[in-house]
Amino acid sequence: MNTNLIITNGRLVDGTTDKQLDIGIADGRVIELAEPGELTIKGEQIDADGAYVMPGLVDIQVHFRTPGGEESEDIQSGAQGAALGGVTACVMMPNTVPTIDNVAIVEAVKALSLSAPCDLRSSAAITINREGERLVNFKELYEAGVRVFTDDGWVVDSEELMRQAFIGIRDFPDAVLSQHAEESEMVEGGVINEGVVSRRLGLKGRPREAEAVIVKRDIDLARQTDGRYHVLHMSTLMALEHVIAAKFEGLRVTAEVTPQHLVLTEDDVERLGTSGKMNPPLRLLEDVEALRVGLIRGHVDAVATDHAPHHPELKGTSMATAAPGMLGVETMASVIWSEFVETGLMSPTDFVRRLSVNPAKIAGITDHGKQVQIGAVANLAVFDPSQSWTVRGEDLVSKSRNTPWEGRSFAGRIRHTVLAGSPVVINSCLVS
Ligand code: DOR
Repeated sequence: MNTNLIITNGRLVDGTTDKQLDIGIADGRVIELAEPGELTIKGEQIDADGAYVMPGLVDIQVHFRTPGGEESEDIQSGAQGAALGGVTACVMMPNTVPTIDNVAIVEAVKALSLSAPCDLRSSAAITINREGERLVNFKELYEAGVRVFTDDGWVVDSEELMRQAFIGIRDFPDAVLSQHAEESEMVEGGVINEGVVSRRLGLKGRPREAEAVIVKRDIDLARQTDGRYHVLHMSTLMALEHVIAAKFEGLRVTAEVTPQHLVLTEDDVERLGTSGKMNPPLRLLEDVEALRVGLIRGHVDAVATDHAPHHPELKGTSMATAAPGMLGVETMASVIWSEFVETGLMSPTDFVRRLSVNPAKIAGITDHGKQVQIGAVANLAVFDPSQSWTVRGEDLVSKSRNTPWEGRSFAGRIRHTVLAGSPVVINSCLVS
């Protein structure tokens, strides 16, 4: 049961407001906003002195491996990492075993998510078992609460099937097709970015062009069908150019980028070993620079982590055979704040827009990423920019250790997280 909560001495930044304000919360909702020290309601106090209070972050691409991959992560461990990272809502990807492609599995995952310290939403596949042959039942899945449809991990190869999918979601204005944009034949057997490093290591590469080809094709389909389209973990300058052109045209096209694609390049792969392997792969400096500018200017709508835990046995093999993917949900806020806000490239307001407001809109998530006003559900994160943090994989709450940030220090860390009016993280520790 919720007791009253008051958050004091923080600077409220919600994408619209940027002001020193105390917040009073009762029954899970914001009931009072007041100048510091002026709240009339009493309650358990959360100290936000020197910190930013913001709508909880929203990560629209996580792999919590339920069902079928619980040796790497499960709903509880994934959601705990999210809470520690200030994330109050996540969209879980459907590349599970079995695939999340029908209402029964959506409902089963929903039931397991009820007690998690984060609001968890399932996406669903676009095609049955992500095999790219038959479409899922969009209507039934939409009625069960699914808003994001994706065959993530794999692309929908068939242009005609993708066109049918756009038509299939047309009646559901807040549903979106999210694509893992890498053309299959071009990346077949590919391990890391195709380039100098792949040649030096003798590994088959995944060409950058494979992403642009699919993004361009899908944008053409979105135009034909008036569909909503979202690019998952966009990694190249060429794809970004297509997205920018689509936005100028007024198409309903959005894109997300991961923290790793905003900071690391193919040159980091040898240092990182298998923790540096993911799909799409780490790219070139020119891609990183373009994506960073895109994020700052708002052409890239959101940051999402593609949190992809893999049990040490799945990562502890050779580069060619290791599972692709990196951890991210617990570290996203610190990486992006350090790289963009601490350095003066982005305002706290834009940080909140890219990590909370925009992703919530893209994924049709209500009650998160919203202005902190009277009556709003109190899904909040408190970020302390003065707390430095050196990441150690063994300290993360995930069941896996494949962080690309091992030993790296960041300026700032989530201090508290509040989910529907209840603290789930206090002083960077989970509330038991
Ligand atoms: O590297 C990746 N790993 N990319 C994906 O799209 C899927 C993810 C996973 O599920 O491990």
